[in-house]
Amino acid sequence: MRVDIFTLFPDAFDWFLQQVHVVRAREELGTALALHDYRESTPLKHGQVDDTPYGGGAGMVLRIDVVCRALEAVFEVDAAEVQRSRRVVELTPRGLQLTDGLCSELAAADLVLLCGRYEGIDERVTNLVTDRVSIGPYVLSGGELAAMTLLDAVVRKIAGAISNPESVAADSFAPELGGALEHPHYTRPAEFHGWAVPEVLLSGHHGEIAKWRRERLSDPHRGPQEAPEDTSG
Ligand code: 6GU
Repeated sequence: MRVDIFTLFPDAFDWFLQQVHVVRAREELGTALALHDYRESTPLKHGQVDDTPYGGGAGMVLRIDVVCRALEAVFEVDAAEVQRSRRVVELTPRGLQLTDGLCSELAAADLVLLCGRYEGIDERVTNLVTDRVSIGPYVLSGGELAAMTLLDAVVRKIAGAISNPESVAADSFAPELGGALEHPHYTRPAEFHGWAVPEVLLSGHHGEIAKWRRERLSDPHRGPQEAPEDTSG
């Protein structure tokens, strides 16, 4: 898998690149991950990358000529050709909301991620992309946090990135769980401030534990809720 991230703030990814599953994907699983700064290839003077919006209004817009030139500098083909061999993803609150299913699809592809800042990228970027993705119905100051969110979820899907593959198959929202949220987790101490761990989890009875956990998969669309009645005795 190859991932090329275009951004005005490559340093924003420093922490992300140190995360153990990301390091493992890059060092052991053949994931090539590269950051590209639009400023390094801008065709404009003084490192200019953005401009004021046509029609007036607040904020600045990342220029389409700058985005094209950045893609061409890296891929050495016409910018609109990149989408023939890659999923080219624009991170934008105007995009389709990211889902577990889309993460699985993206994990099977070579990716280009285009991060915007300010008011985003000139709308003609639609000529260059295969996907426009949002991470939720709220506005962030730039695409970087959204790109890291997407990539974190995508890298978890790469075989071997997470040491225990069962923990990925059992992740919340996975098809294996019918799109449900995973069961709740507990660890020591068994009692704290009078808050007890459900008895069945301490019983060592694998069948009962599996049943308890199945009963506690919950519908992600219902939000935080009380656990079902504990019927385990
Ligand atoms: Cl992908 N970008 C920005 N700037 N804001 C967002 C978003 C993306 N997804 C939700 N809000």
